[in-house]
Amino acid sequence: MRKKIIAGNWKMNKNFEEGLALASEVVNMVKDEYQGGAHVVLIPPFTHIAAISKLISDTQNVSSGAQNCSNHASGAYTGEISTEMLKSIGATYVIIGHSERRQYFGEHNDWLAQKVNAVLGSGLNPIYCCGETLEERESNSHFSILETQIKDGLFHLDDNQMKQVVIAYEPVWAIGTGKTASTAQAQEVHAFIRGLISAKYGNELAAQITIQYGGSVKAENAAELFAAPDIDGALVGGAALQSRSFVDIIKAMP
Ligand code: 13P
Repeated sequence: MRKKIIAGNWKMNKNFEEGLALASEVVNMVKDEYQGGAHVVLIPPFTHIAAISKLISDTQNVSSGAQNCSNHASGAYTGEISTEMLKSIGATYVIIGHSERRQYFGEHNDWLAQKVNAVLGSGLNPIYCCGETLEERESNSHFSILETQIKDGLFHLDDNQMKQVVIAYEPVWAIGTGKTASTAQAQEVHAFIRGLISAKYGNELAAQITIQYGGSVKAENAAELFAAPDIDGALVGGAALQSRSFVDIIKAMP
């Protein structure tokens, strides 16, 4: 059985105090209300990670992560944060290649491949994001776009490295729009991605890779998405900013 992961990407929201309050509510509610098998990852802004990692340190099945990292190990890169810094404050996951980073900060697949290497080099797990724009879907080029994103960002990895990777399929047109991909659309892409991995790394390894869906996931649509055979969890944005809505999504995973 592959790992099921529900991650909350807070993006650039919540001040420090609000972030700690949210994390502590989520942890308490998960302890009280959730008996399922999903792993929960809280992904706040950099400034909150150390305190949140401490807060969750004795809670099983809850981890913390970062939304980005540098592709460099250390040095004169003003404003950047390295994977070793993240590791030293307790983060275990790092989102790489979120569509907002690709779109607004010019991150491209070559650079993202270096970031994936940095994350793995520090013994952390990348959550590698891929997804097509509305235009790409409407022109039916989404499969080739996704294939390029996956191959360029990940296919230089060896088997052991690949096993540490989590993939998040986030169609850009579904992010923050309230417009979720249908379960059939998401399942189709997840199966396609698993097929790419299988062709390169074999069936056994492909069957172990967690592929999350992201894009307007809510408690109302989570259970149906999670019932699809290749959807192994969610990368949640807006609905992760409130403990009740986030924990209700977690509870939709058996
Ligand atoms: P929303 O859940 O707000 O659509 O955001 C999804 C996302 O981008 C998570 O990384």
